Amino acid sequence: MNILGIETSCDETGVALYSTEHGLLADALHSQIDLHAVYGGVVPEIASRDHVRMLLPLIQRVLGEAGIEKPDAVAYTAGPGLVGALMVGGGMANGLGLAWACPVIPVHHMEGHLLAPMLEDDPPGFPFLALLVSGGHTMLIAVRALGDYGLLGTTLDDAVGEAFDKTAKLLGLGYPGGPALAALAENGNDKAFEFPRPMLQKPGFDFSFSGLKTAVMLEVRKAEAAGTLCREDIAASFQRAAVDTLITRAIKAARSQGLERIVVAGGVGANKLLRKEIAERFDGSVFYPRMEFCTDNGAMIAVAGALRLTEAAPADEIEVRSRWSIASLSAPREAQ
Ligand code: KG4
Ligand code: ZN
Repeated sequence: MNILGIETSCDETGVALYSTEHGLLADALHSQIDLHAVYGGVVPEIASRDHVRMLLPLIQRVLGEAGIEKPDAVAYTAGPGLVGALMVGGGMANGLGLAWACPVIPVHHMEGHLLAPMLEDDPPGFPFLALLVSGGHTMLIAVRALGDYGLLGTTLDDAVGEAFDKTAKLLGLGYPGGPALAALAENGNDKAFEFPRPMLQKPGFDFSFSGLKTAVMLEVRKAEAAGTLCREDIAASFQRAAVDTLITRAIKAARSQGLERIVVAGGVGANKLLRKEIAERFDGSVFYPRMEFCTDNGAMIAVAGALRLTEAAPADEIEVRSRWSIASLSAPREAQ
């Protein structure tokens, strides 16, 4: 079975074709970063319009590369995300479903991130602890089986990706700041500043990043006033504090649940320090998607659709949701 995956929840148009027999056949991605960068963040209307512009050409490219005229099902991101942007993918998926007389599968964006490591040669088996870290979410989830997600902790304020982006902005870096901040940090001293490791003294597995953000802001103002600002050192010390917090919490959560595998996924999962250190510090196995499948992409939606193939249904009403808790998902329904 060949599943076409469509991702349009935010600022990347992602399309991929996944075969249940042969794995990933083709994938294509168009990033809108240049369009939004001048505004310092994602402009929803611009995002929707650009998805409209790019989606069909990308689908044609992916089908052409895979040498397939018509897939057996179309999976699309149904939420959470920007509603206008989601509608573009949902509308296209249902339109194609009608034209091709093939079923469609609505996919949860964060479940897509969580299942992205299934695209790799050495995929994790269940159960595992998932550290889901993106621009909008920071979650620790006990994944007992497909669709059986126990939310252990989440952020009480900013998502960790958001903290990277805001700190990057403070340092005069462009949007999205995460990768730029990580690059700057490579030339800095991560011991220059002892920034707080938020929440680590507290019980439970929730996160909070606003205190860290404020501490960095105060330090930057102080250094600017004194004329001693070293942006590299600030970036490196911030990254060290954020990554330390994520890893300490994740390992504690895995141990508390008796889980021997950790999956790191979502945009911040592309952070090299996080990938390296969590593997060094955890005594079990750590899995992550390849770098390009950490940030938003169509392949993760296609593979999640393949794993939920029994839920494929004829094209109908377009289903999208701006907010949608991953903990509300359940095991795939039996085939209809
Ligand atoms: O998963 P994603 O592509 O989109 C959402 O669903 O939010 O994640 C985007 C986030 C942004 O905040 C971006 O700055 C961050 O992931 N990010 C990084 C890195 N690459 C992307 N943060 C830290 N280090 C990176 N290398
Ligand atoms: Zn995402």
